[in-house]
Amino acid sequence: MVNRVVIAGAGHAAGQAAATLRQRKFTGEILMVGEEPWYPYQRPPLSKKFLAGELPAERLHLKPDSYYAEANIDVRLETRAESISRKDKSVSLSSGETVRYDSLILATGAVVRRLSLPGTDLRGVHYLRNIHDVDVMRKDMLPGRRMVVIGAGYIGLEVAAVARQLGLDVTVVETESRVMSRVVSSQVSEFYEKEHRSHGVELRLSTGVTGFSGGSRVESVNLRDSNPLRCDLVLIGIGIEPNVGLAAAAALEINNGIVVDDLCRTGDPDIYAIGDCTFHPNAIFGRSVRLESVHNALEQARTAAQNICGEETHYCDVPWFWSDQYDIKLQIAGLSQGYDQTVLRGAPDSRSFSCLYLKNGALIAVDAINSPRDFMQAKPLIATKASVPVDLLADPAVALKDLCVQD
Ligand code: APR
Repeated sequence: MVNRVVIAGAGHAAGQAAATLRQRKFTGEILMVGEEPWYPYQRPPLSKKFLAGELPAERLHLKPDSYYAEANIDVRLETRAESISRKDKSVSLSSGETVRYDSLILATGAVVRRLSLPGTDLRGVHYLRNIHDVDVMRKDMLPGRRMVVIGAGYIGLEVAAVARQLGLDVTVVETESRVMSRVVSSQVSEFYEKEHRSHGVELRLSTGVTGFSGGSRVESVNLRDSNPLRCDLVLIGIGIEPNVGLAAAAALEINNGIVVDDLCRTGDPDIYAIGDCTFHPNAIFGRSVRLESVHNALEQARTAAQNICGEETHYCDVPWFWSDQYDIKLQIAGLSQGYDQTVLRGAPDSRSFSCLYLKNGALIAVDAINSPRDFMQAKPLIATKASVPVDLLADPAVALKDLCVQD
């Protein structure tokens, strides 16, 4: 009988897990412990509308602050879960307290990957992961200033777009030969490179950074193969890493994240893990994956909460992701790694098209650019792993939902 659930973490996944427990009529105690000073909030707008000043901080929150007291969810903010005793089924907190659990949910998320180079401690060198990071960086983002963004992934490119909107001069430095190479095909990279250049962003691809120089503040970014880039501020957005320290110290299995099954359970049946920190099986793709995805965080949270409530629930879904840059919405469904063919639907110049990824004749992923219909309609095709008539895929006049599926 589960009487007390402790949730380590107070982000998107944690907030959803607590809410689902109550929705499913869990009447026991819920204690949520988070090291940040905020109740659970959405991170995606941090590099988009929140940075642009178009969304107040209150709108980031998943629930009004009053919800937690009303739902009898005990939230300890600015408190870390320091260690787990699996034998005693307890967690030690940074407050000095030790709390017992019947079920423990690890929702520890991810931490930004840091650059270990000279000068990263100079003022004006920023990372972006939480509300505070954005508040500090935004004060530095004054019109006319020169900003260098390191990393042309989601964070780097979204921030570059906002910085241009705010009137800064922007250069993006990326080690790979194309932008967003981790997630999209070369055709989609090319489209985004063109968009950013047309908005005045200078892209320095295939370029390595060797460090940062300046007095008390950063004044230049030093490059491996060319002259330093003069700048007033820098954002480093070179990826995130799963936050697995707590789980690892408790001898739970770690492999590119905290290893869980499709019930979101670790090797210890009383400990679950959810969200960005997990490495979990995906039956559609026939392998385990670690996803940096809000949708995954929410669905794993629901799965863990339902299993704790005794409703056996197996998690299996088509992953999806999105990015907003300028007036372009990128929606990705599926996982494109391992594709052997791509098909473009529509012309990139129209700024509304899709790139479909196939493997052995079946659709495994779509990048939909200002094309929400393709995004929605591709999902069931990906989920069923059905073969699709490739010749018709390229014709935007044929709706994906109408494609006759051959098994
Ligand atoms: N110098 C320049 N570029 C680098 C370096 C480096 N030393 N190291 C890595 N990069 C590049 C990578 O090649 C990649 O293009 O940084 C980019 C990082 O992109 P992502 O992996 O998409 O990571 P990031 O943009 O930080 O976003 C992290 O935050 O928005 C959320 O969940 C979302 O997955 C996303 C996560």
